[in-house]
Order: sequence, then structure tokens, then C-alpha cells
Amino acid sequence: MNVGEGARSVRDMRSSAAWACEVARQHLEQPLPRRWSHTQGVARQARSIASTLGDAADFVEAAAWLHDVGYAPDLVLTDFHPLDGARYLRDVHHADEHLCRLVAHHSCALIEARERGLDEALVREFGSEPPAFIEALIYCDMTTSPDGDIMSVERRIDEITARYGSGHLVTRAITSAAPTLVGAVRQIEKELHTVS
Ligand SMILES: [Fe+2]
Repeated sequence: MNVGEGARSVRDMRSSAAWACEVARQHLEQPLPRRWSHTQGVARQARSIASTLGDAADFVEAAAWLHDVGYAPDLVLTDFHPLDGARYLRDVHHADEHLCRLVAHHSCALIEARERGLDEALVREFGSEPPAFIEALIYCDMTTSPDGDIMSVERRIDEITARYGSGHLVTRAITSAAPTLVGAVRQIEKELHTVS
């Protein structure tokens, strides 16, 4: 995506966090309370880095609210939540294209998509390049525990690996994505340090 496209998307999505919160709540709060706690924690992390995001703060918070909506039982189609969530936002809500791409690619989703044989669909529908603000969303997701508490990215990766177990495709994907995930978190930490 070029910078102009990103800026236009951000303008379009101003004041969208409240809408995104309600969409996520509707799909996650009752059926998946632990996932809802995690989502609330990810959104809190988005607000905590608002000073680094300028005009994009509301947009990134919206993405934080919606990044895991594809886990909702009523939205599962492929069983790959980044793709199911992004398709739902695109097809049902006609959501901003950049927001859909962020959800589709969140936390190195393309690596896991390859493991699942869904990479061609992901790239065809939501592009091959990680969209702008992907590092910010990685920071929010990968420093939040499954219960919504703050956690280091290293512990988060260990937690995911332990939860799925060795040999699982999610473990293979997160292991391969780890350097990118840690690098993104370090980048945002540096930006936070610079603005404080
Ligand atoms: Fe998440």
C-alpha cells in the first residue's frame, strides 16, 4: 500500500473504535468470554500506544477490537480466524479496506495461512504485503495474555507454543514468525520511549 492510500483509509476510519468494540462484543462476549477478555486487553494496549500513532490511534484501536472476531462461532468458515474475520468485516460490514487487511494479516497470519493451505486465498483477497500499522497491532496482540493481562512478547510466544504443543501447525507458524513478532514489539517500544 502506498502512503496516500493508508492516510485516506485512516481518515475514513476515524471514530471507528466504538463501532468496532460493539461488533466484537456482539460476537465474542457471550460465546467466548476468555477471548473477549483478551480482546479488551489488546484494545487497552492500543490505547496505551496512542501517543505514537497520531491520527491513526482510533483506527488501530478499531483493528485491536476486531482482530480476533473471526474466532466467533457464528463466523467460522475456514477455521482460520484472520481470514474468517476479515471476510466478515468486508462482506457484512463493508468495512474499510485497510482495516480488513490489518485483520487478515495480523500477527504474521500469512505464515500460518501457508501451513493451512490458505495463503493463496489470503493474498488474493487481502494482498501480499503486511499493511501499515501492522507492527502496532502486533505489539498490542503479542503483549496481551489470553486473559487480557500484559505479558512480554517472549512469554506470549512461549504460551502459544505450550498451548498448542510441538508439532501443531500453529506452533510451527509462531516459531517461524517469532523474529518478526519480537522485532515489531521492540520497534513500538522504541517509539514509545522516543515520545515519552
Ligand atoms: Fe489476539
